[in-house]
Amino acid sequence: MVGTWCRSGLGRLKKTVRHSRPLMFVNELMHQPKFTGAICPSSRKLGRYMAKHIPLNHDGIVIELGGGTGVITQAILDHGVPADKLIVIEFSNVFAQHLQRRFPHLTIINGNAADLDALLPPDVRINAIVSSLPLISLPPEVRSRILHHWQTLLKDEGRAIQFTYNLRQTQWQASLNACHYSSEIVWTNVPPARVMTFRFAA
Ligand SMILES: C[S@@+](CC[C@H](N)C(=O)[O-])C[C@H]1O[C@@H](n2cnc3c(N)ncnc32)[C@H](O)[C@@H]1O
Repeated sequence: MVGTWCRSGLGRLKKTVRHSRPLMFVNELMHQPKFTGAICPSSRKLGRYMAKHIPLNHDGIVIELGGGTGVITQAILDHGVPADKLIVIEFSNVFAQHLQRRFPHLTIINGNAADLDALLPPDVRINAIVSSLPLISLPPEVRSRILHHWQTLLKDEGRAIQFTYNLRQTQWQASLNACHYSSEIVWTNVPPARVMTFRFAA
């Protein structure tokens, strides 16, 4: 009797964690701290500040890296990017499943951004990469493969949009051969975040 009660209580708790975005976040943070890289989901304002840099007059696709709970994904759609021009790459299978439930009409790929070239259709033209990846806490080898993909995939005037909780210059920026064209702090995000944008040229 007590065993059944405990099992059904545990089942309810698991369901609550599965459907509550902040709890899902804490759960992922405990299991994969270096990959989750944040204590809670991004704010909607941060999403808007990221999405506003995506050009809408470009026929390439938009790649979101590290979709998490989908706050930035929603902002990208609200900005006007059509669903068939957005591909979301998410490493955690818990977040990837959540994203597929929340956005059934989107292409969600459960994979590692370090393998970006292999995950995308061949010869795809990319308009922008919008990244929430915790570049500072990721293993250095993973980070350098991701930055290498930015460099090669965005060489036709593409742009990268990244946020960081480091409000000063980050070390990985120095290894990027790109023109850094804007930087803005969203003070009301928890914690405050800096949105950076980069342009790449052939
Ligand atoms: C700071 S959280 C993103 C928060 C998200 N904007 C939100 O509001 O929920 C970082 C996300 O990047 C994902 N991630 C980390 N490393 C990754 C990688 N190498 N490839 C793909 N996704 C990755 C994590 O699983 C996590 O969902």
